[in-house]
Amino acid sequence: MCDRGELANYVTKAPKPEIPKNPLADVYSAAGQKSNGIVYDKKPFRVALQEGKTYHWCLCGRSKSQPLCDGTHKDVYLKITQRPIRFTVEKTKDYWLCNCKQTKNRPFCDGAHKSKEVQETHIKV
Ligand code: FES
Repeated sequence: MCDRGELANYVTKAPKPEIPKNPLADVYSAAGQKSNGIVYDKKPFRVALQEGKTYHWCLCGRSKSQPLCDGTHKDVYLKITQRPIRFTVEKTKDYWLCNCKQTKNRPFCDGAHKSKEVQETHIKV
């Protein structure tokens, strides 16, 4: 039998997952863009990223190599106003990158894809 004092030492909640940050968010003005791109997918994408490498996350939602930018936003005929978000990671590991393009923690998933607006969006193929 355990007394109550012993039980108080147990942790009942799982530790909160580490929320990644983009160290370049304050360096490049593109990170402060107000508008989001179109919803590309209704779930995030897990990607193995390397520390020290620079990546460009697609914000416009029209890249063919999601979740990263392939330069489609430069097509003048598409009149896309969003620019890619340049980012790095602090540790080499797997990260969940936003694919709905509505995250507030660009380029990382913040759960925005679970919102009613995103889930009810019709995705063009
Ligand atoms: S293709 Fe979407 S930001 Fe470049």
